[in-house]
Amino acid sequence: MKFFIDTANLEQIKEAQAMGILDGVTTNPSLMAKEGISGDENVLNHYKAICEIVDGDVSAEVIATDYEGMIKEGEMLAALHPQIVVKVPITENGIKAIKYLSGKNIRTNCTLIFSTGQALLAAKAGATYVSPFIGRLDDNSTDGIKLIEQIVDFFNYYGYETQVLAASIRNTMHIIRCLEVGADVATCPLSAIKGLLNHPLTDIGLAQFLADHKRVNNK
Ligand code: E4P
Repeated sequence: MKFFIDTANLEQIKEAQAMGILDGVTTNPSLMAKEGISGDENVLNHYKAICEIVDGDVSAEVIATDYEGMIKEGEMLAALHPQIVVKVPITENGIKAIKYLSGKNIRTNCTLIFSTGQALLAAKAGATYVSPFIGRLDDNSTDGIKLIEQIVDFFNYYGYETQVLAASIRNTMHIIRCLEVGADVATCPLSAIKGLLNHPLTDIGLAQFLADHKRVNNK
């Protein structure tokens, strides 16, 4: 399973990249706003800065909601850097834009997926990724992991090449469950990625090893 970080924060992206486990980045307009990135030129420069930090795919989301606007923006984003994947919401215009962009060999990530039907339309339109939002489903009394499992199963059964990118991940258990059900990618906040490091027995074991070493070496 590939690991993407879900942030537009350059320091967090650098930190995850430095760990050597990062396969890509996802952003969205809210994450860009959280970093105070505004204005077309600043937004484009920020995406380029992210691409220079990581080796893998970087999702950059269109703001337009009309078909013409989506494809214009999508082509502009894709031209920025070869690592850019154009993120498009699952709407009727979004599906048409994904179909157009995939026909131009521009990779896409269909976002705001909350049902298998939406994932089906995105896959048929040629999306490179679909992004089902686990946490937001869980927040609304619906099993987000179950949706990941269903989409993985039906993509495998029918041979769709679209990758399942589990999004809206809140914690380490979401990541482990994504592994169990076969998600292709999990995009996670840095806190969840680093949370995977933690186990009290590791801390206790390391303290014991160091104490024993000190006992016989520093008499
Ligand atoms: C997906 O790519 C989105 O950026 C993201 O995962 C949404 O997560 P949230 O529900 O924590 O905002």
